[in-house]
Amino acid sequence: MELLERTEIKELISKIGKTYGTPLYVYFEEVIRKRARLVKSVFEGVNLLPTFACKSNNNPNLIRILYEEGFGTDIVTVGEYYASKKAGIPDEMIVWNGNGKSREDMNVLSNIRYVNIDSFEEYEQWMAFKRQYESVPEFFLRVNPNVDAKTHPHISTGLKKNKFGINIDDVSRILEKPNHNIVGLHTHIGSQITSIEPFEEAISQVVELSKRYNLRKINIGGGWGINYNGSELDIFEYKKRLIPLLKDFEKVIMEIGRYIIAPAGILLLQVEYVKRTQEKTFVVVNGGMNALIRPTLYDAFHKIMVLNPTNEKNVVDIVGPLCESGDVIAVQREIEIPEVGSLLLVENAGAYGYSMSSNYNSTLKPAEVLITSNGEAKLIRRRETYDDLFRTIV
Ligand code: LLP
Repeated sequence: MELLERTEIKELISKIGKTYGTPLYVYFEEVIRKRARLVKSVFEGVNLLPTFACKSNNNPNLIRILYEEGFGTDIVTVGEYYASKKAGIPDEMIVWNGNGKSREDMNVLSNIRYVNIDSFEEYEQWMAFKRQYESVPEFFLRVNPNVDAKTHPHISTGLKKNKFGINIDDVSRILEKPNHNIVGLHTHIGSQITSIEPFEEAISQVVELSKRYNLRKINIGGGWGINYNGSELDIFEYKKRLIPLLKDFEKVIMEIGRYIIAPAGILLLQVEYVKRTQEKTFVVVNGGMNALIRPTLYDAFHKIMVLNPTNEKNVVDIVGPLCESGDVIAVQREIEIPEVGSLLLVENAGAYGYSMSSNYNSTLKPAEVLITSNGEAKLIRRRETYDDLFRTIV
């Protein structure tokens, strides 16, 4: 991240690390706002409701910044609904996604404005629900267009073999009913997609189907890829190739997480040991897959910056303190060997970082700090305590 090259930012981070301890997530308001505006600029001339995918980061303080930028939220659970409410998001700006919406949750969330229906079975359930309640959400059908998003298999969602959505050849079974109660179609083919083609292939099919059935609203999902270790989605190309398809719709909804919030956050870890074995060198830090599980789960690459390097450069494994060999932050990575006690900055950690963290090995979840646009550091989530850890034990 360019910001991290600035000496005053490095000094500020080092100070924040001392004040709040580590592992610590740190976010930059400036980056959140910049990325949010960039997303909106792509949809010039379109009646857009941008929503932020709370699964990528559920801190209400951050969601509130996005609300100020005109974003609603995409939620999957009641917990994410409450995160949205704490951030002040009105029900009219919330979209409910998911393939396992429970009957109980339907009762709690029936006031929100938009629901993406995942299956025929869920459709039937909503129709039964509708007979009992006066006000119901606007229903969209999630279409599975059978498009290969060319991303990690765990985060691909738009192939027939994936559990999500209704097969594109089958949606007519609902849309040909006389009173189907559907206002639009939805598609989301996966996450961390860096080429235009899969989006074009999926969205153009869904647009065509919408036109065939005269559906005036559309939800095109999210999934924009960022630059972890390569290149980012070309949003100018996206604008050129996809926006013309969307101009005629009365409303276009999108759901985006990673593209905005991943580059806005870093994870700070402290080096405990530099362990040298015959085989290799391990840099042992004080947080691993409990704080950031992406390297373990998806072999994900996150750039690492060493705040206090020595003169030695070497290829190392950066590992956490947990009792699993898979507890890694980076594997076979060339870095400047840090001093013990030095801070490591794990970049692009704002999305699916804290939100996927765990208490494994009875560790405490990290704290979160926001660096505001005027350069102040604000604690936006305190570190867990051991009391928190046992709060639910009876
Ligand atoms: N809409 C739907 C229906 C989704 O399932 C997702 C993400 C999004 C929007 C937002 O996608 P984004 O813009 O953030 O790519 N834990 C994985 C990512 C899982 C994505 C789940 N769905 C990771 O750490 O890479």
